[in-house]
Amino acid sequence: MNRRYFLHLSVITAGYLLVGCEDRGASDKKQSPKPPEIDSALDKLSPQVENIAEDFIPFSQKLKIPSEINFSDTSKPVFTAQKSNVNIFEDVKTDVLTFQGGLPNPTIRITRGDTFNLDLINNLADPTIIHWHGLIVPEEMDGHPLSVISTNQTKHYHYLVNQNAGTYWYHSHPHGRTGEEIYYGLSGLYIVDDKQEEYLNLPKGEREVPLIIQDRRFDNKLQLLYKDPDFLHDNNGVLGDVILVNSTPFPFYEVKTAKYRLRILNGSSARTYKLAFDNIENFLLIGTDAGLLEEPISVESIVLGVAERIDIIVDFTAKQIGDKVTLKTLPFKEGSNMRMNPSYPSFDALMDIMQFHITEEFKDTSVLPEKLVNIPRIKESDAIQTRKITMEVISGGIWTLDKKPYDMHRIDQRVKLDTTEIWEIKNTAHMAHPFHVHGVHFQVLDRDGKLSFPTDKGWKDTVLVMPNETVRIIMHFTMPGLFLYHCHILEHEDHSMMANFLVE
Ligand code: C2O
Ligand code: CU
Ligand code: CU
Repeated sequence: MNRRYFLHLSVITAGYLLVGCEDRGASDKKQSPKPPEIDSALDKLSPQVENIAEDFIPFSQKLKIPSEINFSDTSKPVFTAQKSNVNIFEDVKTDVLTFQGGLPNPTIRITRGDTFNLDLINNLADPTIIHWHGLIVPEEMDGHPLSVISTNQTKHYHYLVNQNAGTYWYHSHPHGRTGEEIYYGLSGLYIVDDKQEEYLNLPKGEREVPLIIQDRRFDNKLQLLYKDPDFLHDNNGVLGDVILVNSTPFPFYEVKTAKYRLRILNGSSARTYKLAFDNIENFLLIGTDAGLLEEPISVESIVLGVAERIDIIVDFTAKQIGDKVTLKTLPFKEGSNMRMNPSYPSFDALMDIMQFHITEEFKDTSVLPEKLVNIPRIKESDAIQTRKITMEVISGGIWTLDKKPYDMHRIDQRVKLDTTEIWEIKNTAHMAHPFHVHGVHFQVLDRDGKLSFPTDKGWKDTVLVMPNETVRIIMHFTMPGLFLYHCHILEHEDHSMMANFLVE
């Protein structure tokens, strides 16, 4: 067993033993003496920490799989945003927020062409609303913070789903409190299927696995901790040391010697992952935020910013029974130079996420199609204009777009319905920001930075803009109404890196 990045591991979570990854190298540590503020952080935290008697062993809990709400056999589900008390760890109940009493929240599954119907009841003390991230729906259905409902009110959602098959998600979106509500549990997956995809014969059933990855912090009673008010850097993004997958801490999943389709969502507050597997060198990227790629791309790792999704095929056919394959996040230094809370693994930390245990032989003779779907490229010459948007921190450490803190009632951009535009997003900060637009899907034209991302080849609703990089995206607006664009680091969107655009 190797102990690695957890600077605080020995102090804060003495019982959390993490295995499976290499040490980053002793030399690293020698070259970077601890800054003084880290010492004081640890001093401050040590009393509570010593009490943690949990002997949590990673890969000891079975991955929870969300139940599915399938619209072909359900009339109208009801979601009640509520306080709940659930087992994240086996023997302890943790206070959380849920939509139906448990975690993970159900996966919504719907076929293109069907009508989505749901009632949201707010049983929370504060106003809330659900946004269907990646769904192109009318303004009143989109879950803009202006549409929040107060305690005991009900919101009826009703809209037609007419868009690419893909892995979308839903989450609450109240003004200024989105980060906290998602952190405590208010998010889930939203899968759209269609006929075209069915013909491709991709792995399904137990070989199609949804993975919602979220890093979290727990106190000595295994209750969730959100922002630490004493650490201002938490406004740069809340990072945790325990990775939950489908609300299960560092889980394992039993697999056969076969190909698996993993639909992965980064549902974290701020952490960017660079996903890779131990003992599996390559895997196939088949889809991005808003649908399948034209053809599978073989990759060794994938960078996934907050709110981005990937659809991948992982091949376990060459494995033996008893083998273990760890999904991990690799160091990703390019992502941030910002000060983050030093008590938790940094933005670029190497961390284990979950493990696949090979437990059964299977004759998998399936062949993945070489061609998946057609992606008509939107032509630059079709764009009627280029808008420039900057991502900046202004004085007071406030995250903004175009130096203007978010105002719910201000219209920041007006877009003509049924036109194509290029948006040029310039990141002036030393930290990557996932830029998200509601009510539209876009294509990435180019980035001026050094890195290139295979996910740029597919349909997107969120794009990671690297430090000091400019990314150009192109999109065609088909849905009239008031929508949001924002950074999807939840602490940034809440404070207040967000803006409104009106399509008319
Ligand atoms: Cu996940 Cu405003 O969005
Ligand atoms: Cu969204
Ligand atoms: Cu941001």
